[in-house]
Amino acid sequence: MSFPKGFLWGGATAANQYEGGYLEGGKGLSTADVVTAGSHTTPRQITWRNPETGETGCTGIGFGAAMAFEKGAIPDVIDGAYYPSHVATDFYHHFKEDIALMKEMGFKTFRMSMNWARIFPNGEDETPNEEGLKFYDEVFDECAKYGIEPLVTLSHYETPLNLVHKYGGWQNRKCIDAFVKYSTTVMKHYKGKVKYWLTFNEINMMSMIPFFAGGCMQNDEQTKAQGAHNQFVASALTVKAAHEISDEIKVGQMLAYQPNYAMTCDPNDQVLVMERNHSTLWYSDVQTGGKYPNYKLKEYERKGIVLETEPEDFELLEKYSADFLSFSCYGSSTFTTHDSEAGSGNFVMGVKNPYLETNAWGWATDPHCLRLACNTLYDRYHKPLWIVENGIGWDDKKEADGSVHDTYRIDYLRANVKSMDDAINLDGVELMGYTMWGCIDLVSAGTGEMKKRYGFVYVDRDDKGNGTLERSRKDSFYWYKKCIASDGADL
Ligand code: BG6
Repeated sequence: MSFPKGFLWGGATAANQYEGGYLEGGKGLSTADVVTAGSHTTPRQITWRNPETGETGCTGIGFGAAMAFEKGAIPDVIDGAYYPSHVATDFYHHFKEDIALMKEMGFKTFRMSMNWARIFPNGEDETPNEEGLKFYDEVFDECAKYGIEPLVTLSHYETPLNLVHKYGGWQNRKCIDAFVKYSTTVMKHYKGKVKYWLTFNEINMMSMIPFFAGGCMQNDEQTKAQGAHNQFVASALTVKAAHEISDEIKVGQMLAYQPNYAMTCDPNDQVLVMERNHSTLWYSDVQTGGKYPNYKLKEYERKGIVLETEPEDFELLEKYSADFLSFSCYGSSTFTTHDSEAGSGNFVMGVKNPYLETNAWGWATDPHCLRLACNTLYDRYHKPLWIVENGIGWDDKKEADGSVHDTYRIDYLRANVKSMDDAINLDGVELMGYTMWGCIDLVSAGTGEMKKRYGFVYVDRDDKGNGTLERSRKDSFYWYKKCIASDGADL
């Protein structure tokens, strides 16, 4: 086993699930602030209020189901609902302690997201919120103290709520200008402190959960196509701005990717898998490859989808494609045209794969998923890759002495590190780094639960918001420390 020199080992988080500090430091509201907690069996809800009638209500977050906001209603915080993101696991007040724990594990990098509404509380304010800028300055200074390279997502499932109220979210091109002003402001402000940026977390989730991905209040095909197009243009303009600010800055795409398997050798299953692959890869064909693929244009033609574009859009997409491609990958999905038992996964449903074990949420652990993912993506784009999410959610039990014996997590990670090693050493894939998802326990995006834990560090907080927020090291903490210290040799 040998990982390339300078390989960026680390962990990943997102403000909407980790930061908290909901109304502190001048932060405005964002979409994540109006999403309630759910569970494996009860979907999370978006709460709304009708400013005319004062009525309140809620609607599901998508996943193929229609969103139902009452006419004239706007997403908002309402009385009596529980919103896990408001405190989350309180990075806002624990960042020094948490970054010290990351240092103890030997992190070379820390993926986090910046909350746009902390910098521009209304999404498009004249000037940035100084207190917000100061908060992230302190965070990056703390990282620098320990030689940890930040990797910052500009928008991880949170859009300033004002942009949703005013424009209906990302299907409106006004969001492009607002975002580019935000990305340019922070890339300039943190020049010298942050080299690596990602624009939109899992941009392809626009097709499944458009409210999370872009604050869109409808989930019809036209809205989602326009929302994605506007984000592509905003990403290209961000790459352009980055390169003008400094040669050192690199801007990556972030894609939710998993290898898709056909359950049988029935050619119909193969066609189904090809179509499933297209439904993910068109996003990277545009943002990393620089061009809308023909299969997507044909689909739009068939469905009567017409994009609102400006003449320069397509040139921008080609000229300022992403510098590198980052992706999340938790396992694989299996599909068939035949009757089969349903499975579940990272926002992508399929059928149960009899060869793989699953966790309590039905997510299948696949020992080869990272190698397969890296090969597909590298063969297609020949750009550097970065695995920015991988991990396993588990209802960990903390012992009386604070220890957590998470051998299942260690087994999962061991297999995944080996798979990554194969991609690098057997296949020659260019891989920049690996950030394990939810390195310190945080709120689950899919269910809003605390009990679906991913971390190396346990945080004392439950699904109802009780707990001291105290941090304690799990067994996997010591395992990862060894893994990093030996550059993946001691697993
Ligand atoms: C990714 C998201 O899809 O998966 C994260 O980028 C999310 O925000 C992670 O938390 C794990 O999913 P979940 O639903 O278990 O939190």
